[in-house]
Amino acid sequence: MAVTPQDEVIGHVLCTRAHVDEAPVLALGPLSVRPDRQRTGVGSALVHTALGAGDALGEPMVVLLGDPGYYHRFGFRLGSDLGITPPVAGWQPHFQVRTLAGYRPAVRGAFRYAEPFDRI
Ligand SMILES: CC(C)(COP(=O)(O)OP(=O)(O)OC[C@H]1O[C@@H](n2cnc3c(N)ncnc32)[C@H](O)[C@@H]1OP(=O)(O)O)[C@@H](O)C(=O)NCCC(=O)NCCS
Repeated sequence: MAVTPQDEVIGHVLCTRAHVDEAPVLALGPLSVRPDRQRTGVGSALVHTALGAGDALGEPMVVLLGDPGYYHRFGFRLGSDLGITPPVAGWQPHFQVRTLAGYRPAVRGAFRYAEPFDRI
């Protein structure tokens, strides 16, 4: 969460446990910033925090569905570049991966969110 000195929540990011084939990876989302605080760097701070935490924990990658125009600046690439496929073929243009220090090229194949996402 991003919080002001007055304890107001102005943004949040969440990562959940997901898998690529059998390998554990992180799925990022949702990410949001309160509209009156957007475009002030809060979203970037939240994404960098999630990436830094994932790196420190030895995770291989962070995967998400989002606008490449926004996420490219953080080093996200299309999953297809790394042989990682989304659960729905139509997601491909927005399905992105950011590798971390724990990345191994052997982590490839079908991505799946944690089981509760299947019920949404
Ligand atoms: C997308 C969102 C999280 C960005 O957060 P933010 O705090 O406004 O972003 P930042 O201030 O860190 O912006 C960093 C850069 O991204 C750009 N940017 C912000 N939102 C963007 C968007 N939707 N598309 C493309 N670029 C965007 C900014 O212009 C800025 O560029 P600059 O560094 O060249 O000036 C925020 O706009 C939001 O909550 N949107 C609604 C929910 C949403 O779309 N979440 C993402 C779902 S995948």
